[in-house]
Amino acid sequence: MSGRVNTHVNEYSIHPSILCADHGHLADEIQLITNAAADYIHVDVMDGSFAPNFACGTEIIKCIKKHSTVPIDVHLMVENPAHHIKLFRDLGADIITIHPEADKQAARTLAAIRDMNAIPGIAINPGTSVETVKELLPLCGHVLAMTVNPGFGGQSFLDFTLEKIEALGAVSKQYGFNLCVDGGVSKNNIKKLALLGVTSFVVGSALFSQDDYNEAIRELRAELQL
Ligand code: DX5
Ligand code: ZN
Repeated sequence: MSGRVNTHVNEYSIHPSILCADHGHLADEIQLITNAAADYIHVDVMDGSFAPNFACGTEIIKCIKKHSTVPIDVHLMVENPAHHIKLFRDLGADIITIHPEADKQAARTLAAIRDMNAIPGIAINPGTSVETVKELLPLCGHVLAMTVNPGFGGQSFLDFTLEKIEALGAVSKQYGFNLCVDGGVSKNNIKKLALLGVTSFVVGSALFSQDDYNEAIRELRAELQL
């Protein structure tokens, strides 16, 4: 790997994954990550079909909107996401990410998200190659490289995805998308990812397992002072 250096140090964003928060104290958790200066709140929506789990429906987004002004990044791990994009946009989603495997007309759906003045994104599963989704890249403002298989927080980072991340990092400026990673991100690997051109980081269990979210996000950002 060439270890391409990303020099845009001010453009990094941290996206806490609300899936990994304590849902018994959701309002408090939202306020704590807001106070810790999270850039986006990442919401994992799962339908029990595309992903082997059910998670984060519309009530979670309403709760976030009630307690925070941090922008919302919705990750739709659902079949036929086109059926639901208006619902999530109307609730206040700023970034809407779909899985191309779940959508028979992903290019149409990405255009529809952009027409709603939200940022369109695709998520690329660990087992999906860049070649498979290449035509979609110019249509995206956000590309979510999955570094775990969709479904659960707290899984281990899959190292075989690094080669793909490097390939995406090398073309992100050309196509004009923001490269984000999702799954197993922590202060131990965030710098390595940034050096490959990743600018946005979904962080779930590595953040919500800490006592002090402010300090945890500060430590993540410290790793990005490249
Ligand atoms: C996995 C989700 C992730 C997950 C991240 O299906 O898309 O957003 O919540 O959690 P960690 O950081 O614990 O892997
Ligand atoms: Zn996610």
